Amino acid sequence: MEAFRITGGARLAGDVRVTGAKNSVLKLMAAALLAEGTTTLREVPDILDVEYMAELLRRLGCGVERDPQAHTVRIAVPAEPSHQADYDLVRKLRASINVLGPLVARCGQAEVALPGGDNIGSRGLDMHVMGLERLGATVHSEHGFLIATRGDRLQGTTIWLDFPSVGATENLLMAAVLAKGTTVIDNAAREPEIVDICRMLQAMGARIDGVASSTLEIEGVDELRPVDHTTVADRLVAGTWAVGAVMTLGDVTIRNARAEHLEIALDKLVTAGAVVDVLEDGFRVQAFDRPRAVDVVTLPYPGFPTDLQPQFIALNSIAHGAAMVTENLFEARFRFVNEMVRLGADVRTDGHHAMVRGRARLSGAPVEAADIRAGAGLVLAGLVAEGATTVYEPHHVDRGYEGFVEDLARLGADVTRVPA
Ligand code: UD1
Repeated sequence: MEAFRITGGARLAGDVRVTGAKNSVLKLMAAALLAEGTTTLREVPDILDVEYMAELLRRLGCGVERDPQAHTVRIAVPAEPSHQADYDLVRKLRASINVLGPLVARCGQAEVALPGGDNIGSRGLDMHVMGLERLGATVHSEHGFLIATRGDRLQGTTIWLDFPSVGATENLLMAAVLAKGTTVIDNAAREPEIVDICRMLQAMGARIDGVASSTLEIEGVDELRPVDHTTVADRLVAGTWAVGAVMTLGDVTIRNARAEHLEIALDKLVTAGAVVDVLEDGFRVQAFDRPRAVDVVTLPYPGFPTDLQPQFIALNSIAHGAAMVTENLFEARFRFVNEMVRLGADVRTDGHHAMVRGRARLSGAPVEAADIRAGAGLVLAGLVAEGATTVYEPHHVDRGYEGFVEDLARLGADVTRVPA
């Protein structure tokens, strides 16, 4: 058992490099199942979730070799992968549900334990199931497994999603690329991570139109081939560094990052008073004065990302003025507010709104991270709190951020891992 111990007051300054996006690479690893042979993925972050996904693929019969230092993963997919993903792994990693689409498309059946993952409220699978059924699969649940089977082949069809779900769009996309005929996914999610998986599938031989739009048109093919693909940069890690720079009145250059994937968030930081310069391989964020409070409303991309909401609550908690933060995706994401209050923040929630009144100072305290982004928000708050903050359950943060504490320390923060 470990914890992060932070002594507040330091200013973040220097360069930090981000690797590929967790939310992309886990799905790219699932997509590898669609082709026999060895797929290589690059810019793979060295985080726990990647190891869980690697283990899941191994249990499906794949050979998976990770080289964390080179940030690569090689996945050797057999002619006939097995089709069962057990609860012991799925419960650790909700993204395991993303093997459902590729397995049913390629192997004819898939049995995936119903997932766990982040503790951020109920996350239904109804759109995954409805879409697979539209594609001709039979789906039912039994003994804690979601079981999908098909006849000879999945059949192209039109699918309207009630909501642009990231996971459902990915699963249905990975199923449709091997279906017979044309599939249209309307009201599809269009996060940069979805664009990334579309690019990888296209390189594998898939035919996809409308990439980056909310209508994906997929012409099924008989077979796909393995590829060598570089994962898109993690916009959420980059965004976390940007918020940290502003909160600590710092000067941080975030390398290998794509500012165009963070437009609203960076614009909010400029409204808060920061200076953001876009560079060839990233961007630089500087702040000189206490930030001004900024309202935030989370929405599917290109709206403001829910995965940066806790970090912006942390920012608003020390800003000048008051801000309204509206969470439209995961209702339970405000649970971490109780921990912010332990640090002296003035935050009140009502349903999916949080009213944050900025305070001149927070005061360090022991707090607990309930999920990846809540953990990141608490660490940022700890950086500006007076005295020491201990963040318990830091393994949540380690699931999404490679070497977070080490990078923070390099940028000047007083932070270490300590035994809990
Ligand atoms: C992904 C990200 C997560 C991010 C989220 C929204 C990964 C591993 N995780 O999660 O970090 O916060 O996108 O950007 O990529 N829903 C249903 N029925 C469904 C599917 C979803 O009701 O069949 C609901 C969920 O309960 C939730 C909302 O839709 O309220 C968004 O979910 P979704 O976009 O699917 O998020 P994830 O793919 O789970």
